Amino acid sequence: MTQSPHVHLRLGVNIDHVATIRNARGGRHPDPLRAAHLAVEAGADGITAHLREDRRHIADSDIARLKSELTRPLNLEMAATPEMVAIALRHVPNACCLVPERREERTTEGGLDVVGQKAALVPVVAELKQAGIRVSLFIEPDQRAIEAAAALGADIVELHTGAYCDRAAEDDARGTAAEAERLEKGARAAVALGLEVHAGHGLTFNTVAALARMPEVVELNIGHFLIGEAIFGGLHAAVRRMRALMDEARFKASGRVSA
Ligand code: PXP
Repeated sequence: MTQSPHVHLRLGVNIDHVATIRNARGGRHPDPLRAAHLAVEAGADGITAHLREDRRHIADSDIARLKSELTRPLNLEMAATPEMVAIALRHVPNACCLVPERREERTTEGGLDVVGQKAALVPVVAELKQAGIRVSLFIEPDQRAIEAAAALGADIVELHTGAYCDRAAEDDARGTAAEAERLEKGARAAVALGLEVHAGHGLTFNTVAALARMPEVVELNIGHFLIGEAIFGGLHAAVRRMRALMDEARFKASGRVSA
């Protein structure tokens, strides 16, 4: 068996749904920034927040506080609109992950149409990069999308794991394996084109290992499941367990034995 060098797999914790709960009542509790600090304490390498056009969870003031107080990189998820680009340029997060956004959707459905929207994305990617922000594109693990992302000059592709997690939730073993293979193939193709590979959407304790085993994937962004688990056992415990599952799968895949 060939041994690949172990590369630390970063965990980005998405705190959007702490804000969802806060906004259900208005006021300040629970505070997403407090959750971010706790997630970092528990082993998160970065924090992800999605500032949606309709501000249904994260607010502009959350982004300002996260940016000024976080001790880890901030990954700002956003639509590629002039309003969001202006906000990103004001706060200069470590990275911006461009996602498709429709007002009526419950969560980000599907990846960005990088092929169809190439002309609109060119100036957005260029402007963000010029400001020193790393640019990530949230895409399906499809060859054409990966090639288009590379041609656009993106630094990173975040591969959409939603279909893989859906098949797993349906106990569809063949479908799950097929989606995992599609992600793996996509990750390899992206690295071959010089892109950094992240992945996320819908990941849980049960689905994270397959992604953690892929040496090309260097960051996972996980939100909804962790915030949901926090109800039962606390956020610190949920993040620590996710971190441990990721590390264990990674160590095993690299031919090393976890301590
Ligand atoms: N990555 C991206 C680009 C996303 O849009 C989301 C959802 O906001 C996530 C990761 C996290 O997904 P989940 O909340 O299902 O873990």
